Amino acid sequence: KSPFKNAAVLSDSYSSEASELADIEWDNLGFGLLPTDYMYMMKCSQGGNFSKGELQRFGNIELNPSAGVLNYGQGLFEGLKAYRKEDGNILLFRPEENALRMRQGAERMCMPAPTVDQFVEAVKETVLANKRWVPPPGKGSLYIRPLLMGSGAVLGLAPAPEYTFLIYVSPVGNYFKEGVAPINLIVEHELHRATPGGTGGVKTIGNYAAVLKAQSAAKAKGYSDVLYLDCVHKKYLEEVSSCNIFVVKGNVISTPAIKGTILPGITRKSIIDVARSQGFQVEERFVPVDELLDADEVFCTGTAVVVSPVGSITYKGKRVPYGVDGFGAVAQQLYSVLTRLQMGLIDDKMNWTVEL
Ligand code: COI
Repeated sequence: KSPFKNAAVLSDSYSSEASELADIEWDNLGFGLLPTDYMYMMKCSQGGNFSKGELQRFGNIELNPSAGVLNYGQGLFEGLKAYRKEDGNILLFRPEENALRMRQGAERMCMPAPTVDQFVEAVKETVLANKRWVPPPGKGSLYIRPLLMGSGAVLGLAPAPEYTFLIYVSPVGNYFKEGVAPINLIVEHELHRATPGGTGGVKTIGNYAAVLKAQSAAKAKGYSDVLYLDCVHKKYLEEVSSCNIFVVKGNVISTPAIKGTILPGITRKSIIDVARSQGFQVEERFVPVDELLDADEVFCTGTAVVVSPVGSITYKGKRVPYGVDGFGAVAQQLYSVLTRLQMGLIDDKMNWTVEL
């Protein structure tokens, strides 16, 4: 029996595709797109509800040049990962959290959104259809990228008349070219990622286009990425272009509070719970940039970056080092608990994983 609701769209070749591992070099996967077999598509009109989606062959999509997403940036994305266990089964990590975040973002961006059940079901179908692209244990994960966009044509500024929910996937390894080695950040003074009342707290595509300029300049100078400050006081930490940030001092781990300008990361939230369960005191608050100067450790969290240790932060021309040899002890401990849980290597007492 086919595991798919939309088995009709799947070709006969599917069963052989699904049973094996894709024939690629699984060692040293980076974070780049590897085209896979299927993507998921579901459409609905403005004011309507998403109803029936389907899997189709992965490939280019057609959009009217006047689509809302192309002209006015009416779009959201999500990111989550699937890991292959030693027994061959596949684990998703908190997919309903992504579904809820997409629904919150859709409300801010005037878009209809799939229900939590529709979202999670679509993720499961897409992952199972691309099962042969889930890396072997220890080699990486399958990155799942749900998109929600205004695909209908508009000319005057208004919500688009039609919406597309799409999911594609790609096997990935480490996000930063440093691998699991510490990354080097630079604090950005001029450019800001988000403003109060803006869209910094939702995963809209424009938030990511807006950081490219500062990120490119930082990379050209040899830094891994940029750390943003709040745009009002230009003093408090916000986040890195693609991840949240944590500062460790003794037994206390601090991270910027979610106040509308920072992305509510699912890895961020999970690491806070893991850290508390490991006996750390976690503070979500305003974190002044000066606290970087005497921090013991700094690390970043995100679906793509997982937990990445920070080796140095350059602030106003001064480079503050945190250690170049690898993870600090705290980041290592949290990374280890989180990833073993995500990979099914320890008991999931939190009930965070969904097994396929
Ligand atoms: C993720 O971590 O999944 C993200 O969405 C960040 C993206 C820039 C890769």
